[in-house]
Amino acid sequence: MINKKNITIMASGNGSNFISIYNAIKNGIINGRINLLISNKKRSGAVKFAEEKNIYTKFLSKKIIDSRKDYANFLEINLKQFETDLIILAGYLKMIPKEIIIMYKNRILNIHPSLLPKFGGKGFYGMKVHEKVISSNEKVSGATVHFVDEIYDNGPIIAQQKVNISPNETPLTLSKKVLDVEHKLFPHVIKKICEDEINFNKIKPKIEEIRK
Ligand code: GAR
Repeated sequence: MINKKNITIMASGNGSNFISIYNAIKNGIINGRINLLISNKKRSGAVKFAEEKNIYTKFLSKKIIDSRKDYANFLEINLKQFETDLIILAGYLKMIPKEIIIMYKNRILNIHPSLLPKFGGKGFYGMKVHEKVISSNEKVSGATVHFVDEIYDNGPIIAQQKVNISPNETPLTLSKKVLDVEHKLFPHVIKKICEDEINFNKIKPKIEEIRK
């Protein structure tokens, strides 16, 4: 039996992905434990949920994030103190400092609400992604889980899942469809990482495609 991995969640939004990961751990699907939530939004659903479940929470102020050195130091100190094995970006929209990406190479995962490399990069987050997908007359969209590197939404893709776009789709209905997929895809990948089935110590991770 592999040791439980310490999972730090970074989230600033509603926290629905955070909740789906929490539930997958509670139901024995993921062999890990959430040791810490790091957030830059005190009044977010993610922080509220962590409070309800007595999960340690650390806040990143704008002042810390704006000073690159303080930002990297803050993360390094907390990740070391909490013995973090894996960092999960579950609706965290700020760049991760380079020092941390090097330190946690292939141990930081992000979920993105489109089929990357389409509709990714700076400025593409949350509802903005779905608005652009709809206005581009796409027929399919989906969710992507990938390793985080120094470039926004660029790291190696681990898994993707598609959703079909209906003729009367709106950004709101599409966001719900994609979130539904995210809530299964992200725990599925985290489960595999926690079982060492996707070896993040190798330079090239195993790529897995999930299709409905
Ligand atoms: C999710 O759709 C996630 O894919 C997206 O933010 C949402 C967070 O929702 N992330 C990005 O756009 C990252 N570029 P949640 O707070 O309910 O989990």
